[in-house]
Amino acid sequence: MEETAKKRMLSGIQPSGDLHLGNYLGAIKNWADRVNDYECYYFMADLHTITVRQEPAELRRRSLNQLAQYIACGLDPEKNVLFLQSQVPAHTQLAWVLNCYTMFGELSRMTQFKDKSAKYSNNINAGLFTYPVLMAADILLYQPDYVPVGEDQKQHVELCRDIAQRFNSIYGDVFTVPEPLIAKTGARIYGLTTPEGKMSKSVPDGCVFLMDSPDDIRRKFKRAVTDSDTENCVRYDKAAKPGVANLMNIYATITGKSIPEIEAEFAGQGYGVFKPAVGEAVVEALCPIREEAEHLMADKAYLDGVYRAGAEKAAYVANKTLRKVYKKVGFYQGL
Ligand code: TYM
Repeated sequence: MEETAKKRMLSGIQPSGDLHLGNYLGAIKNWADRVNDYECYYFMADLHTITVRQEPAELRRRSLNQLAQYIACGLDPEKNVLFLQSQVPAHTQLAWVLNCYTMFGELSRMTQFKDKSAKYSNNINAGLFTYPVLMAADILLYQPDYVPVGEDQKQHVELCRDIAQRFNSIYGDVFTVPEPLIAKTGARIYGLTTPEGKMSKSVPDGCVFLMDSPDDIRRKFKRAVTDSDTENCVRYDKAAKPGVANLMNIYATITGKSIPEIEAEFAGQGYGVFKPAVGEAVVEALCPIREEAEHLMADKAYLDGVYRAGAEKAAYVANKTLRKVYKKVGFYQGL
């Protein structure tokens, strides 16, 4: 990647499940749309996944497949640094330092920690608690200006800003304080069968995976929950009709149409027409991605090469920040 004065962007996704429409619309699509305007670092947050028990072979499979899917979504490895978090040791090295500059109370307030410790009550490990510190290290190592994420990660990016500001106030300007970049539409995609909760792999019926076949996608949209009243009218009302609002939001994000345009398009037509139309728009968007990803997933040597090159480029930048931090806190580094 050539040296430029472009602003820097960084983000990551855990390979804890197969990528879904929420990941795509809330995060990856925004990354791909900005590829030419920023210097970009995107990674697979595999270290984060083991805060919840993983099946090792599955984690390895998903870590490689996720890279193929990133590329298929438009993240060209020649233009973006794509890497696997565990292949860049500086992440865990900086995380330890930042642990000592993060308060217990701050971590206790994280909603994701509260949710996950309720969900995995038999495994509330220390990693689950300090997860946002590792995430802060992921970010601050690369000195990015922006962190494009979905709505649910905003609190973590804000904590990262607090940690950076605290560190900078003691040691001078060590870290760039990044801004979260949350898309106007798509930042929170809800489950198709549970529109009160975010789309997630844990409810597979209402979750559209990037690698789903067109028929599976069509079926999931046909079964999508609309609303409990009998109005049968495509109208945006998030409180009264969360299922319809979610489908409209998905359609808007994919087609670029505004909500009033969508209301006009489906005026006088019921959900029987609207739901398959949204499904078809999603099929059209995801089909080329799936085909390209399948092609790439068959070429393990190519993917390994991308990971190797990505880790090298990432480590170069990350180690520079780490050395600065080690020096600031007083670790002796020899002559
Ligand atoms: P993760 O892996 O849960 O999700 C990855 C990205 O997808 C977005 N997202 C959604 N957006 C809209 N609607 C949804 N239903 C939906 N579900 C997920 C998330 O907001 C996120 O942008 N902690 C992070 C991973 C991470 C990270 C980082 C991100 C680790 N280190 C450093 C940015 C920077 C996470 O668990 O995201």
